[in-house]
Parts: sequence; C-alpha cells; structure tokens
Amino acid sequence: MEKSYDVFANSERLVIRRFGMQDVQSFYHYRSNPDVARYQSWENYTLQDAESFVSRQSASSPDQPGTWFQYAVALATSDQIIGDCAIHTLGADPRIVELGFTLAPEHQGKGYMHEALCALLDYVFGTLNKHKLSAFADVRNTKSIHVLERLGMRREGHLLENYMSKGQWIDEYQYAILQSEWLNKHQ
Ligand SMILES: CC(C)(COP(=O)(O)OP(=O)(O)OC[C@H]1O[C@@H](n2cnc3c(N)ncnc32)[C@H](O)[C@@H]1OP(=O)(O)O)[C@@H](O)C(=O)NCCC(=O)NCCS
Repeated sequence: MEKSYDVFANSERLVIRRFGMQDVQSFYHYRSNPDVARYQSWENYTLQDAESFVSRQSASSPDQPGTWFQYAVALATSDQIIGDCAIHTLGADPRIVELGFTLAPEHQGKGYMHEALCALLDYVFGTLNKHKLSAFADVRNTKSIHVLERLGMRREGHLLENYMSKGQWIDEYQYAILQSEWLNKHQ
C-alpha cells in the first residue's frame, strides 16, 4: 500500500506513524470515551477538538524542543488506528523526553500498548538518541502503572498533589528509564 505519511517504527502487529486526517473518526471515538479520559487532562472531547488536534499533529514535526508530538498507533494489517503515544521533548533540555499513551478500550488487554511502546522506545533511544525518558501517572491509574513497570521503568517519586485535574489535586508517580538501561536490555 502506498503510504503518504511518515512511519517512525514497526512491530509485529503495529505501525507507529504520523497522524492523517483519515484518523479523525477513530481518534474522536476513543478520546471522547469517559473511561479513556478518566485520568487524563481532557473531558467532553468534541469532534471539532479531534479535527483540529489531528490537523495540527499531521502538519507538525517530531522532536521539537518544548513541544509534544503525537504518534498514531495503527494495526499493521489494516492501518486502522487503535491509539496513540506522545513524546514531549523538554524545552529546558531536549535530551530528556516525557511519555504519554492511550489505547481505545476495545483494543485494551491484548498487549498492544506494551508492543507499541517497545518499538517507540527503540526509536527514542536508538534513532533520536535521547538520554532519559520519564512519565507521570495518576496514582489511581493502575493500568497505566502496569504498562510503565512492564517496560522496566523505575518509580522515582510520589509527587503529592502535583496537578489539578477536573477540580481536584492529583497525586502522581514519576517513572523514568535511561538510554543506557534500555539499550543494555534490548540490544
Ligand atoms: C493505559 C492503557 C494504555 C493500558 O492499556 P492495556 O491494554 O492494559 O495495556 P497493553 O496494551 O500493554 O496490554 C497489557 C494487558 O494485556 C494482557 N495481554 C494479553 N495479550 C498479551 C500479549 N500478547 N502480550 C502482552 N500482554 C498481553 C496483559 O496481561 C496485560 O493485562 P494486565 O495488565 O491485566 O496484566 C489503557 O488503559 C488506556 O488507554 N487508558 C486510558 C488512557 C490513560 O490513562 N493513559 C495513561 C496516561 S499516562
């Protein structure tokens, strides 16, 4: 199939690629699901929000200091998106990045996010040559915590009332992994 967008990484079942406008409906479908949004910053996500988000992401470039870039996670067989992963390249030091991720509910429980993140971390540490990757998880978000720990990320902190979400101060765990740790295990 002729691809009109960038592919950043592949795994057995998945392709990590740039978003395109054909992804808007699927993206909207899971982003607007209250279960998906429970521990995330957004709520009442509209189709218009999805259109402008995908439009911005499909035109932006990865690894720009001080910005997030959203990678689409698509099934290799159909190219249909089932979720996304995001990388924030820190403005203060672009050798350090932060991770976020979301999977549509009907595709959860099958190991897809672990598989996508293994491919993404190979790209982040191998291709982009980043020094350290960190992630923050709401302490109540057990599924997200499992994903981070299954990747071998270390819990480096319990941050009390670290951010305001939906009218409530939220405790977060901070996780991290160094490039040397990832490459030692995966080369
Ligand atoms: C966080 C989130 C992506 C986790 O999804 P998930 O499906 O649990 O994660 P994975 O795709 O890696 O699947 C792992 C699960 O599939 C199971 N699994 C089934 N087949 C598998 C396979 N072939 N390989 C690996 N795991 C498999 C694992 O046992 C695991 O289940 P467990 O946690 O009960 O042990 C999902 O809950 C989500 O999108 N939540 C909303 C957004 C969010 O909160 N994001 C986090 C912000 S930091």
